[in-house]
Amino acid sequence: MRLKRWSLGRTFALLSLLIIGLITAAQAVLQWTLLRADLLEWERTVSADTIRREAYAGLRPADFAGWRTPEAQERFERILRRPLLQLEVLRVKVYDTDARVVWSDEPRLIGSRFPDNEHLAEALGGVTVAHLERARQAENLYERQFKETVELYVPLTFPGTGTPGTATVAGVVEVYKNPSRVLAGLSRDRWTIVATSLGGGVVLYAVLFGIVRRASRQLLAQRADLERQTAALRATNRELREVQEQLRASARMAAIGEVSAAVAHGIRNPLANIRAAAQVAGEAPGDRDSVERYLAAITSEVDRLGRWLRGLLDSVRPFEPQLASVSPNEIVGDVVTLLRERIARSGVELNLALAPALPVLEADEVQLQQALLGVVENALDAMPEGGTLTVRTERSETAAGPGVRVTIQDTGEGMPPDRLARVFDAFFTTKARGTGLGLAITRRIVVAHHGTVDVSSAPAHGTIFTIVLPARGVATEVA
Ligand SMILES: Nc1ncnc2c1ncn2[C@@H]1O[C@H](COP(=O)(O)OP(=O)(O)OP(=O)(O)O)[C@@H](O)[C@H]1O
Ligand SMILES: [Mg+2]
Repeated sequence: MRLKRWSLGRTFALLSLLIIGLITAAQAVLQWTLLRADLLEWERTVSADTIRREAYAGLRPADFAGWRTPEAQERFERILRRPLLQLEVLRVKVYDTDARVVWSDEPRLIGSRFPDNEHLAEALGGVTVAHLERARQAENLYERQFKETVELYVPLTFPGTGTPGTATVAGVVEVYKNPSRVLAGLSRDRWTIVATSLGGGVVLYAVLFGIVRRASRQLLAQRADLERQTAALRATNRELREVQEQLRASARMAAIGEVSAAVAHGIRNPLANIRAAAQVAGEAPGDRDSVERYLAAITSEVDRLGRWLRGLLDSVRPFEPQLASVSPNEIVGDVVTLLRERIARSGVELNLALAPALPVLEADEVQLQQALLGVVENALDAMPEGGTLTVRTERSETAAGPGVRVTIQDTGEGMPPDRLARVFDAFFTTKARGTGLGLAITRRIVVAHHGTVDVSSAPAHGTIFTIVLPARGVATEVA
């Protein structure tokens, strides 16, 4: 998978911009809200106290009931004009408990009632109210000229009137203030906050972006490295496969060479003998006896060649055993009979130890004879000066069930370990007229019958071959 270049950096850039923007905005809003709350709190406490102090000193509760009298108007005028001298006070109104304006610096408002004004109602209930008002929400036409105003409602409960603690509101003074100066300060503050937040954010962003970009670059470099390594690995793999292929080819060539050498070795001697015999016979055409002898020798060599070729073909031809019920002792008997004359001639003592009641084998009789013959012939070859040949059969328990073990032991020359390791190799022979195929064929036949063949030997201590064959039969032989 190929990641898009810079995708990490890009994602980070977008996300961090968004987050820093959000944090800055949230900070600005929060600061602004707190400052506004502070401003209103100031109005509710400090400004309201000032107004109250002035009103209590110069007005009387009776002025609200009798507001129409010139004396009352004169007192309102004297006391409440004063706040208007302050720069930011835009309007002053005095309400009686009936929500009626009893005095104002705007004479047209005097006598109007505002019973729907919630803030006024609250103030008439005794609560000092301060809030920021947008012009279009101002309660009457004459105040829409002010863009943004602070409205302050100060309820007046004259001390010393009524029962202590239950003083009733005699009226409410409402002051409109233009907070522009304060707000200008505030908005300056607001922009400072926004600017510092943004500045901090940008610096943070730049630093983080640098780090992330470096990390992203490193990542890309590592990936490029990895890709290079993978490519190199792939190339090495390809080379390895090629070398393997070459090795396989040369192994094939070596095997072919080995077979060719064995074939050449196998046919060279008989051919040389045939040629020599033919030549000698040709040189004495009149000597009928000699010619006949040489012709017989030629025939014998040709027969030997034929046998050799048959053995070679047997060793490579795929074969399927023709299964039938076979008695192991009978096979041993047949092989011994075949070789009886040779055994007698070589002065070898034959020791047969055939166990009775052996399992019947499901096997190919001819093949088993051939397998056994190869081993017994080798044993006789190993004892040219005579010795003891022991052939033993016995019952054996194999993993596949009951079977038969045949051991062929000789007291011949024995074998050193390096020769022992190669006895089953095709074409391995230490004999002048040997093919090196006898034991290779023996092993092929035994394996085809799901059996095993093992050998143990030491120089001058003779050799023991052990063949184990599973019975896979049902009947039990009666001796
Ligand atoms: N009983 C034995 N004692 C000593 N050496 C043995 C014995 N059996 C086999 N060998 C060694 O193993 C070699 C291979 O035996 P194998 O039967 O395959 O071929 P071969 O006997 O040489 O040739 P062929 O079987 O054609 O006569 C022999 O040449 C011999 O060196
Ligand atoms: Mg042999």
